Amino acid sequence: MSARHGLARRDTALTELMDDRDCDPRALAATYRRFDVVNRLVSAWGHVYRTRVRPELAALGRPARVLDLGSGGGDVVARLAALAARDGLDVEWVGADPDPRAHEAARQRERPGVRFVSQGSRELIDAGETFDLVLSNHVLHHLDAASLRAFADDSLALSHGAVLHADIARGRLAYGLYAVGITPLSVGTFLRVDGLRSIRRSYRAAELSAALGAPWRVQTPAPFRLLATARGRARA
Ligand SMILES: C[S@@+](CC[C@H](N)C(=O)[O-])C[C@H]1O[C@@H](n2cnc3c(N)ncnc32)[C@H](O)[C@@H]1O
Repeated sequence: MSARHGLARRDTALTELMDDRDCDPRALAATYRRFDVVNRLVSAWGHVYRTRVRPELAALGRPARVLDLGSGGGDVVARLAALAARDGLDVEWVGADPDPRAHEAARQRERPGVRFVSQGSRELIDAGETFDLVLSNHVLHHLDAASLRAFADDSLALSHGAVLHADIARGRLAYGLYAVGITPLSVGTFLRVDGLRSIRRSYRAAELSAALGAPWRVQTPAPFRLLATARGRARA
């Protein structure tokens, strides 16, 4: 199916190469490493940090705890930690991912104030964890309908402040630009195939809004991006 015809609706039947437990471990490790560059180029977390994360953490007036749920290779939380350190914010950053392969890759990015746990959202709730802010990047499009609802509810239960879920906005231009732009970066990785499949699986703003329902708001913080936001329900 061509992108032209394949992008009108979400293609939820597509699975990503990196989700295959038997995929090439060297290509997988290279993919996790290079997510750093790709997420910097496409994910708009610099903007979301300046407009959402920094004001929220600065307003606390005390050390903060932030969770990246589904942290994958750990690059987003490492980047946010560097931005916050530059702004003089005192933050404990936690990246959580139940996939042991992701955890192994993310551990390379551990440093003082940034740690990774091999746990999913449910296990964190069962452990009684709560945070001042919970965020995720590129997790929502990955989940089936039941898992999306559970993930969204879990994120509310884990935060007593903002919850910010960032993802791709499906569209032909995003697909075309990614197909061309990713080619030089994708050698030896799953970035091209999986990125294009991710775009086909991704939502448009109205679709994500309908899938999440109340209390979520879905905005477009940058071209080709969605940001689902809500206030957490955890007790401070
Ligand atoms: C497509 S990856 C995104 C990785 C990373 N955030 C990034 O932007 O590169 C989605 C990740 O979400 C994780 N995940 C799925 N359900 C989860 C849950 N309930 N709690 C925590 N992580 C979850 C998966 O294990 C997977 O590593």
